[in-house]
Amino acid sequence: MATRNGDYMILNGKLVPFAEARIHCLSPAITSSVNVFEGLRAYWNPEDEQLHVFRLEEHLARLEYSARVMRIGAHPWDRDTLREMVCELLRVNEARESVHMRIHLYVDEDGFMTATEPVGMFISCVFRPSTRQSREGCTAQVSSWTRLTDNSGPPRVKSSANYFNGRLAAIQAKQDGYDNAILLTPEGHVSEGPGACIFLIRDGVPSTPDRSQHILESITRDTLITGFSEWFGNPVQERAIGRSELYAAQEVFFCGTGNEITPVIGIDGLAVGEGRVGPITAALQERYFAIASGRDAAHPEWRTPVYGRP
Ligand SMILES: Cc1ncc(COP(=O)(O)O)c(C=O)c1O
Repeated sequence: MATRNGDYMILNGKLVPFAEARIHCLSPAITSSVNVFEGLRAYWNPEDEQLHVFRLEEHLARLEYSARVMRIGAHPWDRDTLREMVCELLRVNEARESVHMRIHLYVDEDGFMTATEPVGMFISCVFRPSTRQSREGCTAQVSSWTRLTDNSGPPRVKSSANYFNGRLAAIQAKQDGYDNAILLTPEGHVSEGPGACIFLIRDGVPSTPDRSQHILESITRDTLITGFSEWFGNPVQERAIGRSELYAAQEVFFCGTGNEITPVIGIDGLAVGEGRVGPITAALQERYFAIASGRDAAHPEWRTPVYGRP
């Protein structure tokens, strides 16, 4: 995957060259992972020569929620300011292709684990096209690592601290020859991947783990739950899913802002369906990309245009 960083980032509200975006090594963001974030994508539409940030409002709302739960203190970067900074950074980096962005809020400077201030922020911009796996599919291993739980490191909160859990699972999966991992809950139900939610399609019926399965309340998951009903008249079942159902499904896919819709074509050495991208997943991808880029005009409230803003 060819990625390239934008020349500029925003650090504490100011544009800085990429190489100068640094924080203090004793900051609670580093020493205790007091650091919440959002991963966003913007899609370039060559027909209307516009870059659309996908579901920016929902990302900003979740960032506020994560900061609240992690007791990140007062800061000047409210939702309106962040929205404008995201668009400004894309314009300054002259983004006219698919972009992945991060917005982080963290506790900066020298402080203890319980410090809530001073709050730092950065926004980054990386030119990052869709992955080969999202076109061709990936393999996955059900991990021996268990998903973090809501009462220990709540996965509902998008905190960098949580990512050690997915990292362990992803590294184990790669060492064992798989592309990615699927984590189970302590009860043995399917939870999610290291950086994505999961759906399966069994006998035509789409299902995804419900919100009590220690998942991040994914914005892409929400988009696809809406999409399955609206585009295909095929509502998603949100429910507890047993591990062995993964082996009975005809189609499985990961979904997330970064992963977009990544088909899973093999799990634990067993082919999913016919071992290639399934027809429902392919149709879903087509609709998702059309709407995210604005080629399909449905759901304009999901897109924030970057160029020509007042
Ligand atoms: C653990 C985890 N689950 C799910 C997702 C998907 O969330 P979203 O669709 O909001 O990007 C992510 C995305 O980063 C993630 O890290």
